[in-house]
Formats: sequence, C-alpha cells, structure tokens
Amino acid sequence: MSKKIFSGVQPTGNLHLGNYLGAIKNFVNLQNNPKNFCIYCVVDLHAITVKQDPFELKKNIRETAAAFIASGLDYKKSIIFNQSLVPAHTEVSWILSCVARMGWLNRMTQFKEKAGKDKEKASVGLYIYPILMAADILLYDATHVPVGEDQKQHLELSRDIANKFNLEFNSTNFFIVPEPLIQKNFARIMSLKDGSKKMSKSDPSELSRINLNDSSDEILNKIKKAKTDNEPLPDNENDLSKRPEAENLLGIYSSLSDQSISKTINEFSGKNFSEFKVMLADLVVNKILPISSEINKILKDEKFIDKVLSDGAEKANEIASKKISNIKKIIGF
Ligand code: AMP
Ligand code: TRP
Repeated sequence: MSKKIFSGVQPTGNLHLGNYLGAIKNFVNLQNNPKNFCIYCVVDLHAITVKQDPFELKKNIRETAAAFIASGLDYKKSIIFNQSLVPAHTEVSWILSCVARMGWLNRMTQFKEKAGKDKEKASVGLYIYPILMAADILLYDATHVPVGEDQKQHLELSRDIANKFNLEFNSTNFFIVPEPLIQKNFARIMSLKDGSKKMSKSDPSELSRINLNDSSDEILNKIKKAKTDNEPLPDNENDLSKRPEAENLLGIYSSLSDQSISKTINEFSGKNFSEFKVMLADLVVNKILPISSEINKILKDEKFIDKVLSDGAEKANEIASKKISNIKKIIGF
C-alpha cells in the first residue's frame, strides 16, 4: 500500500543519536520506498511555544534542515520545508481549535511535563500545541505519521479531531484519520549517564548524549564515560530488563548495525564493557561522523539550505492551500 507520510522535528538545538535512531533514520527508510510520498517539516511554529532566542532559532532551523539532508533525506524525493513558510498551518490550527475539546487537551501528559509545577506561567501555545500538530498532519491528508513513543498521545488527539470534524460537518473521510508509525525496536534511546532517562537535548549534561555534529574525539570520550554496571555483558535478553545501561548500549549497537539485539548479545556475551565500548565507539564514529561532516559542509552554504526549504514550502503550499479552501467551503466561510 502506498503511504502518505508526514512528520516534524522541532528546531530547538542539536539533534542527537536518539533523534537519529528514533526518528530520522526511519524517515529516510520511508522515503526510500518509492511507493511512499513523504513530507518532512522543521516545525518552527512549535518551537516558539517556549522562549527562543531569534538568532538561535534561525540557526537551529538551518541546522535541523542540514541534519535531515545529511542523514539521507533527499529534497528531490521528499518535501522538506519549515512550517512558518506555509500560512495554512496556523490558519487550520485555529479552525481545529474550535473542534478540539478542552477535556481532550487537559489529558495531554507532555503539557503537564513541559509546563511543570507552574502551569499558569506556561504559554497558551504550549497548551494548544497538539492542535497545531493535528493541523500539520491533516492538511496533507497524511495516512501515516512516524513519531517516537512520546508523541503517541498527540497523534491520538489528531485522530479524534479528524473524526469529530468529519462527523460534525457531515463530511465522511474529508480528513484522513492518520495512523502512527512507532518503531518497535529501539524506540527510546536512553541517556548515556542514566539508563532510565531518555536521551534528550534538554539534559544539562553533554555526556548524556551523542550529538549528530560531535567530533570523533567527543564521541569516543562520551562512550568511554558512558555509565555501565559491574557485570560482564549478558548472554540472553531476559537479563537486560534489570540492566538498563547495558540494554541501552547494546540497543544502540544493534540499531546502528541494523541487526537484532539477540545477534548483538551473541556477539558480545561474557565480554566486559571496556572491550564492547571500543567496538561500539568505532561503530558510532563510522555511522555518525559522515553525517556530522556532511552537516558542517551543508551549513557553510546557507543559501542552499534556505532554497531547499523555500522550494519545499512552495510544494507544500500548493497542497495545503487546496485543502484549506475545501475546509473553508465545508465550514461555510
Ligand atoms: P524532539 O527532539 O523531542 O522534538 O524529537 C524529535 C523526534 O525524535 C521525535 O519523533 C521523538 O520521538 C524522537 N526522539 C527524541 N528523543 C529520542 C530518544 N531519546 N529516543 C528515541 N527517539 C527520540
Ligand atoms: N510534536 C512533535 C515533537 O515534539 C513534532 C511535530 C510537530 C510533529 N508536528 C508534527 C511530529 C506532525 C509528527 C507530525 O517531536
């Protein structure tokens, strides 16, 4: 079956190995199936739900686009653009705000996490951000949305909004109800310093993550210092649940080498971490360094990046403006 794919990544700082293995690598695989039609968006409107420095934001938009391209997304095969260049996202977001219910948004766990203790001080944008995400997806009739586990609830909300709109306006199948595409294996890459925490760009410790633009020395050092336990590597998968750091490092190795965790366990069972870490560091450097050098090369040509994004936006706009004019007809504008 051919799929219409939409996904987005926020331009809020360095992309890391978790973003790559949990999201971008999958974007590339989906793109490389000629049956799929893929749209990948740098979601800058989402980024401003928390305070951004304008200079940094601009830099991060280009860096995210460069990371997309360096990881193998091809602007000739996929539409690559940044959200703020296509006004329909904001427009549809308002309309969908009038469809979504307060009760639905009140259940969103990510808002609770991100807003923290002082909800009153969070931006209204942060609260309604899942509606903007629904607008992104529904505007393009996306059938499938590759996201990490953490976005599953937001995708459910997009489905609820699509269904409610279709029902309320008697327009069966007008909005396509999108399916999440969540990786089964290695869906969560954990912090190198704490196997129970997600690898994240907001972690204050640089040693907790491998950034896509790290140098080989940085990668080697971070893997050397990664947390482990005192036992040798396990000889079966059952033992992993109690050893989150071992599980994470073996998972990273498996995911980067496109092999099952059991194959990796067979390869290293009984060995000690220092031996395994040498092999792991070698693999990470081999896989990430080419991406890192490509990112740095692309970043030198800002005009090129801006052109990729604006050409992509033009194509996106063509699709989105047709959809929005149909939305307006349905509503009675
Ligand atoms: P974010 O950086 O949180 O905007 O995430 C961008 C994409 O990367 C989303 O699809 C996330 O689910 C995915 N992602 C972020 N961190 C991780 C992680 N530690 N492991 C796996 N996927 C992740
Ligand atoms: N909310 C997503 C995140 O924080 C990013 C995102 C915005 C997105 N719009 C989207 C993902 C549409 C998939 C589809 O990671």
